[in-house]
Amino acid sequence: MLLHTIKEVREKRQEWKGLKVGLVPTMGALHAGHLSLIKKAKETCDKVIVSVFVNPIQFGPAEDFDKYPRTLEKDYELCTKEGVDIVFAPSPNEMYGAGQKLSNDTLTYVCPPFFYVNKLCGKTRTGHFDGVCTVVLKLFNIAQPDFAFFGQKDAQQAVIIKKMVKDLNVPVEVIQCPIVREESGLALSSRNKYLTEEGRKEALVLSKILNNIKSCYKKGITDIDALKETAYGFLNEKHDLEYLEILNKNTLEEQEKADDDSIALIACRVENVRLIDNMYLGG
Ligand code: PAF
Repeated sequence: MLLHTIKEVREKRQEWKGLKVGLVPTMGALHAGHLSLIKKAKETCDKVIVSVFVNPIQFGPAEDFDKYPRTLEKDYELCTKEGVDIVFAPSPNEMYGAGQKLSNDTLTYVCPPFFYVNKLCGKTRTGHFDGVCTVVLKLFNIAQPDFAFFGQKDAQQAVIIKKMVKDLNVPVEVIQCPIVREESGLALSSRNKYLTEEGRKEALVLSKILNNIKSCYKKGITDIDALKETAYGFLNEKHDLEYLEILNKNTLEEQEKADDDSIALIACRVENVRLIDNMYLGG
């Protein structure tokens, strides 16, 4: 069922009292990565809600909000095939109120802690995680799920959402699901659609760097700088590296040495498309 209003979702949720409800928050343009979250939600819960909302307040002024792919009809079809009970696709007016200025001068925002935000993607995407946490908390309040499913691909986002849930006592269990990759190693992302055929090949640099760091770690290299330096052999003028970090996977803290709790995270532009990827070094 495709619903566009908060009222309709609330009414359905009331009918589902006593059932286990799962929410998969998305911005649409669904791919196999999203479908893996939906499958996990279907396994875990009695009822599954997928939200499809390109959230304006998590995009910076120079980012791709206008051109972000919007494919609701196809998304709805895919969700129906997977047995999703509700696809919730609100308009920005429905989510934030008609005529509401979308700024923290006039709108209540959820601001995650500076320590978690002032690194990785948050360093260049000012306000991004405030926008993410605000919309996610709103979706939690609307759908009142027992479980919410997020992809490991947005590792910083997942850590920040878990922190918000803990700090604000939100009664939701956050389930993090593994990255889905193409056979080539490219992590699935809605933004891969912006790449040309050639760009898709160049984009493999992200997973190649991460795989190489992991195999160096497995061979016994634990010095973080030495691990990071191995990336330079893969980079050329077609790759604009934004960051490469090795941190604790649960806390995003810097570490003296890499260990089994480390995660390597990378952001790199290819054909001016900003791509991110990450890999756990342990396991
Ligand atoms: O990961 C995403 O697609 C978005 O950041 C989310 C969690 C749906 C919030 O808009």
